[in-house]
Amino acid sequence: MCDRLRKVIAVKRWLVLGLICLQLLSSCSFTNSAIAAGKTLTVATEPTFPPFEFQSANGELQGFDIDLMNALASSAGFKVKYQNMPFAGMIPALQAQTVDAAVAAMAITAERVKTISFSRPYFKSGVAIATRTDNQSITNFDSLKNNIIGVQIGTTGALKAKSIPGAEIRTFNDSPLTLQALLNGNVDAVLNDRVVILYGIKSGNLRKLKLIGDLLTEEFYGIPTPKGSPSLQAINQGLATVCDISALV
Ligand code: ARG
Repeated sequence: MCDRLRKVIAVKRWLVLGLICLQLLSSCSFTNSAIAAGKTLTVATEPTFPPFEFQSANGELQGFDIDLMNALASSAGFKVKYQNMPFAGMIPALQAQTVDAAVAAMAITAERVKTISFSRPYFKSGVAIATRTDNQSITNFDSLKNNIIGVQIGTTGALKAKSIPGAEIRTFNDSPLTLQALLNGNVDAVLNDRVVILYGIKSGNLRKLKLIGDLLTEEFYGIPTPKGSPSLQAINQGLATVCDISALV
């Protein structure tokens, strides 16, 4: 009797083990099918943020982020369909899973990781100040107090601006509008990603604008996806092959 019972228990154990293995295998093949060659991911972007994403005169998407996304996709074996949308709409779109990912110079922040999942970092950046060349009073973060500050909605620059005592904050839908407002004298300073300010001043030939001092924040860009995204593994795999993380430190 006892022997028979033992045998029954042993058979049951094997059955349970077998079931677990089957489940593991099927979840594996789910992950693999998510990155199967030819799959197309819908990727949000906001192409008014040169040099990371912008459009050529004939509407073609260009920039560092676009090149990076295309390269990592072809390395990981999936295709990309870009969808333009306002930067502030990306996190809601990722949460609603109407897009699979975004590539938008988006910094990995503690607040954002509560609702979305980021890839590993791919670019080190930070917020800096732009002002007009004729403004002698704005020289660092402390001197921003009681000034009118222009920011793009939903950005880390907008978040940093909230900590300026007595400042009046004016929000804009995109980054070029913030620099335009600065040129027109509608704001005294702009807080935005340093590289984007520099590129704006240089490529837009905005000689009346200048970049002030050091970075106000340290941030790392990542590629955001919905929480639990089956595509994140493929994105990270692609990133690892096209981008050397040790260059970030
Ligand atoms: N790096 C900043 C952030 O994460 C600004 C990004 C804005 N990106 C854009 N495509 N407009 O908030």
